[in-house]
Amino acid sequence: MKYLIFSDVHSNLEAFKAVMTFIKNRKFEQFIFLGDIVGYGANPNEVIEEMKKISPLFIVRGNHDKAVAGLTNLDYFNPVAATAVIWTSKNLRLENLGFLKGLSSGPLKINEEITICHGSPWDEDYYMFNKFDALEAFSFFDTKMCFFGHTHFPAIHILENGDVKTIYPTKFPFRAKIESGFRYLINPGSIGQPRDGNPLSSFLIYDSKKESITIHRISYDISTAQSKILEAGLPQMLASRLSSGI
Ligand SMILES: [Fe+2]
Repeated sequence: MKYLIFSDVHSNLEAFKAVMTFIKNRKFEQFIFLGDIVGYGANPNEVIEEMKKISPLFIVRGNHDKAVAGLTNLDYFNPVAATAVIWTSKNLRLENLGFLKGLSSGPLKINEEITICHGSPWDEDYYMFNKFDALEAFSFFDTKMCFFGHTHFPAIHILENGDVKTIYPTKFPFRAKIESGFRYLINPGSIGQPRDGNPLSSFLIYDSKKESITIHRISYDISTAQSKILEAGLPQMLASRLSSGI
């Protein structure tokens, strides 16, 4: 089985379209999305509509999806993120609001091998940045692998004899073998708002037959995405961080 696993598109249509073009002539049997379709960028309706075209799709909601859908308050959002949530709620078509409201919370066990979540397997809004978070997280799911998003930072945590080894890839495409006897917590990075110092869009391919994962980074039309953010009256910082990747 070949999976495309991706996260945190954040209403960035240019980045999402670049990824869809990249995969066009490659065959995928399953698509897995780890949350945050919306928030930050200027094209929430268009990105949701592109997302609806992908099938079969396993999906969990992100904290921005939840807030835009009115399912949580904005207490834990910084002022810039809260401004984007309010703008997105106002500009979303009713059917797309309904789509966000209907998304499942994580964690979600999609088969005997894979669990997915947005933040962590015990709290969908928790940020797992380091090996200590990962060590705790392994006891909250029972599959060999769990894919998560939320941090916008590609990472691979490997549980090996009770200890966790963590890899933060810096050279791409980054390939890793899935070994028997080990367990994995893997973050594919963010498609629409990368924050690991690399502005290229980030996503992952998992090939269960070859037992390997590959994290890809691809370029997209950043300046158009930035212009749209500014024209929409969204905070300037949301545009500038697209080119810095932080
Ligand atoms: Fe996010």
